[in-house]
Amino acid sequence: MSTLSRRQWLRTTGLGLGASVALPGLLPASEMSRVLGGGVAYADLLAQMERDVTTARRAAGPIRLCFNENPFGMSPKAKDALMEGWAQHTWYMPPVRETLRETFAKYVGVPADHVLVTQGSSEVLSILALAYSMEGGEIVAPWPTFEDLPRWGETLRAKVHKVPLDHNFDHDLYQMDAKIGSSTKLVFVCNPNNPTSNLADDQALRDFVSNAARRAPVIVDEAYFEFVDRPGHRSMVDLVLKGENVIVSRTASKIHGLAGLRCGFAVARPDIIQKLSQYVTGDPNVFGLQTANASLLDVEYQRFVKQKNREGRTMLLDAVARLGKKAAPSQTNFVFFQAGRPVQQVQEYFLGKGFLIGRAFPPFTDWVRVSIGTPEEMKQFVAALPGALA
Ligand SMILES: Cc1ncc(COP(=O)(O)O)c(C=O)c1O
Repeated sequence: MSTLSRRQWLRTTGLGLGASVALPGLLPASEMSRVLGGGVAYADLLAQMERDVTTARRAAGPIRLCFNENPFGMSPKAKDALMEGWAQHTWYMPPVRETLRETFAKYVGVPADHVLVTQGSSEVLSILALAYSMEGGEIVAPWPTFEDLPRWGETLRAKVHKVPLDHNFDHDLYQMDAKIGSSTKLVFVCNPNNPTSNLADDQALRDFVSNAARRAPVIVDEAYFEFVDRPGHRSMVDLVLKGENVIVSRTASKIHGLAGLRCGFAVARPDIIQKLSQYVTGDPNVFGLQTANASLLDVEYQRFVKQKNREGRTMLLDAVARLGKKAAPSQTNFVFFQAGRPVQQVQEYFLGKGFLIGRAFPPFTDWVRVSIGTPEEMKQFVAALPGALA
């Protein structure tokens, strides 16, 4: 089969100028199949996506740099797989759920009985709170961090020890350890941490987790694992394989760009997975399952997103440094930096420039969290940055 010319290809995919308001992420999968089957190199397709996505996002309203979403959306191969969901969309318990469980198990290197597929990784956290912390237990968590587990704990009347991060934004492991007692039902760590974006020292966190897990289950939230650049960085999944009382949560929302399709994962010992399964309140939908399965296998797309994220992140971190402001060392798809003004003022300023940025995370009320968009978006953002700072 011959390779499509660029002009033919743009016409075929609807990615040409006339289609600038159509999000590439919403192209019909049948069209994408023709592209993929038509001899266009996948790298070229991804490059074209990059060129078009900024225009499409701009046309849709302010650029969303507020929720750590993937600006590129789902992988073209995931989009192709979306259509396969239609074949099973009227069924309960579609077989792809088991397929995804096995694919994810291989992705992280564990047997399939160590995996629970959930509706986003937020559901792992709510299930854990339900399973362990109801009525009167205690939870130990760093602060600020991703709030779902502490919030669920409080809803279920657990006492939540919110242990302030240290002066480097690291988990204060000494203070956290001191809070673990006989009433502790769960210990939460988030690595890299949201909203601060930094990665913990591997050995220190590993030792803390292993130690704490002798006293209470430890949940390690690794939503941003795939963005980490530190050489040799390892998931805490190996502690699960050693049989420790550790639950790792991962997601299809971030590098895989499937936040709206709700797919996440818990990795734990089979006895813990069985316990958690009893508290599941709903099933992930078949489109989320199909697309997550395809995306986990699409290594080239993951590499593409990681590289583009690195470009945008470096651009923003360099600009913040040039302007003499402090930033946490980001290992994620967002940057946390000191604007020197109340976050609300910075939000208003950027809205005027066509960008939505993150909310305030007390006590850091003059630090802002900005998600990484496409490199082109970050170029525009950085150009507007000096006017935002005190
Ligand atoms: C650290 C962390 N964990 C979990 C989540 C939840 O992700 P999801 O439920 O989409 O998997 C987020 C979302 O931003 C997050 O930042």
